[in-house]
Amino acid sequence: MLQMKNVCAGYRRLAILHDLTLHINQGEIVSVIGANGAGKTTALRALAGIINATSGDILFEGKSIAKSRPDQIVRAGLVHVPQDRALFGGLPVIENLVAGAYTQPKSTISASLDEVFELFPILKDRRAQLANTMSGGQQQMLAIGRALMARPTCLTLDEPSIGLAPNLVAQVFNAITRISETGVTVLIIEQNASQALAISDRAYVMESGAIALEGTGLELADSPAVRKAYLGM
Ligand SMILES: Nc1ncnc2c1ncn2[C@@H]1O[C@H](COP(=O)(O)OP(=O)(O)OP(=O)(O)O)[C@@H](O)[C@H]1O
Ligand SMILES: [Mg+2]
Repeated sequence: MLQMKNVCAGYRRLAILHDLTLHINQGEIVSVIGANGAGKTTALRALAGIINATSGDILFEGKSIAKSRPDQIVRAGLVHVPQDRALFGGLPVIENLVAGAYTQPKSTISASLDEVFELFPILKDRRAQLANTMSGGQQQMLAIGRALMARPTCLTLDEPSIGLAPNLVAQVFNAITRISETGVTVLIIEQNASQALAISDRAYVMESGAIALEGTGLELADSPAVRKAYLGM
């Protein structure tokens, strides 16, 4: 469904991704783990069209999106939840959610809202609350909910559990699993390797802008190298 083929990308003259190749099959949950600075966020930015690949190609449902604009990529069904969440802090929850549906016809908004509220009931209760007064966990749910308002077929999440207390981490991963069960393909990038591997069909370890290891979530969770470097065991 989504393929990065020998992608090179970076910032100005600074090359970060070096021949990055990975794929996600329809319906899978795939995670990418790796140390700080490995280039994980850069890879998601390239997928979202925020930065352009300098070489290689990115295919989404068989079509190249390597030169597409971010809004065209969202319209195609590939939607990104950034690491900093990028909410409209001064706006209420409901307006943040509606903003997420900017690519969708108005007639679909209320059905999408119902789906998001079913997944995250707290967002329904707090629909009038300003986004920047929500807790960290609630803001993460709002960021995911806003992305779902664009009706993605594939969702990419950059460190959804960052900064969250353990019970909220569990809630967020649980929500990701439920989103996957609705048929949405999921790519997640995580520092929290153990939780990410536990819910993933497959996973990649990224080092210095390229893939160093790949396997099923279970295989990587059992791999001595991964356990030592990323699971602290
Ligand atoms: N806007 C930018 N301009 C210049 N360099 C950048 C920019 N953003 C990231 N980098 C550099 O790119 C490299 C990869 O960063 P990236 O954010 O992709 O790593 P990451 O794997 O997501 O790390 P983390 O786990 O800390 O989030 C780092 O060396 C970083 O300093
Ligand atoms: Mg990052």
